Amino acid sequence: MNEKIEHMRFAETVSSGERGHHTGRVARARAKPAPQAEAVVDLAAIAHNVRILRESARDAALMAVVKADGYNHGAVPVAKAALAAGASELGVTTVSEALALRRAGIDAPVLAWMHTVDADFAPAILAGVELGVSSPRHVAAVVAGAHRVGTTAIVTIKVDTGLNRNGVAPDELEQVLVDLARAQAEGSVRLRGIFSHLAHADDLHHATIDSQQERLVSAVGDAKRQGLIPEVVHLSNSAATLTRPDLRFDMVRPGIAIYGLSPVPGQYGLRPAMTLRSRVALVKKVSVGEGVSYGHQWVAPRDTTVALLPFGYADGLPRALSGRFEVQLGSSRRPGIGRVCMDQVVVDLGPDGGGVSEGDTAVFFGNGDLGEPTAQAWADELDTIHYEVVTGVRGRTVRSYVGGTPT
Ligand SMILES: Cc1ncc(COP(=O)(O)O)c(C=O)c1O
Repeated sequence: MNEKIEHMRFAETVSSGERGHHTGRVARARAKPAPQAEAVVDLAAIAHNVRILRESARDAALMAVVKADGYNHGAVPVAKAALAAGASELGVTTVSEALALRRAGIDAPVLAWMHTVDADFAPAILAGVELGVSSPRHVAAVVAGAHRVGTTAIVTIKVDTGLNRNGVAPDELEQVLVDLARAQAEGSVRLRGIFSHLAHADDLHHATIDSQQERLVSAVGDAKRQGLIPEVVHLSNSAATLTRPDLRFDMVRPGIAIYGLSPVPGQYGLRPAMTLRSRVALVKKVSVGEGVSYGHQWVAPRDTTVALLPFGYADGLPRALSGRFEVQLGSSRRPGIGRVCMDQVVVDLGPDGGGVSEGDTAVFFGNGDLGEPTAQAWADELDTIHYEVVTGVRGRTVRSYVGGTPT
């Protein structure tokens, strides 16, 4: 089920090295054209960002968060690049995400931290996936799974220290600890870690950061009094990893910064890993006074030339960006004009067409090096965060890789 959804989201995943190198006779005669719309992920940028985060983490270990298919960059290639660059563990949300990493041959520690209580934990236990527990019901379900398969489950307690979302609520912590201590004594679980997640990590001096830290330390003390000694305690996401070295504990747990997007003002030398681009499907003249796209929201103020890009809201270009975005095409920025449609959008090239031809590549966002917009620019325009921009790329977009081998 999940796999199918993934394939629908990103129809095809190729390494740019594969393109044009077909083995069949017919294919050899005719190189495969670049996809109509492509999210190119730079694995060298991923490695670079992990190295930067490793420096901030100093002697703490680094868990690379690759949930949501690696923030839509491809969990397996990102995980492999991150592990090679110095990450030692991986974090995901669901058991099925964790099992997908195992199926890809990744044997590094993997933590999955959000489950319904009726989840079937048996496959995860057999695969050595570390299970985050957030209530006594989760503990009971994991213990039942361990009994079923006759294997010790690896467990990490997610403590709610003030985010009031996932995690053990304060009034249930004691029960969780008592139940886990009993289960550990009988050999059905092994406590690996205790962790929590910050509510205001991007606000360096917010008072809740210190109170969350104190509550985590207190929960670790409570666990130890029950004979539960965690191997790793962790709290820091990307923002805290970069700005609050005092919160490192044994491990940091960054996500977004691995993908090169800064969670706080300041660049920290991070390199955005995703470039979103599309090829020009059509170039045509539009006369002065003619309207463009549904509703004729844009009317040509002069005779002009436009380019059609086969990329629409079904592919991750929000309709709310209609008339409010630019692409890098040829040597300059070109404004999007008229409404963004499901499958296509139009950009204005000016009266002379700017030398743009059908088949040329337009960049929606990238790392900015060539003058193109960034995911942050889209986020600013949409009054959202760059997390949502990169995870929103979908539909017919083909994901491809540069800067390393994605396998
Ligand atoms: C529990 C947990 N840890 C770590 C992260 C990584 O956060 P960020 O992407 O802000 O670094 C997330 C992401 O939301 C998370 O849910």
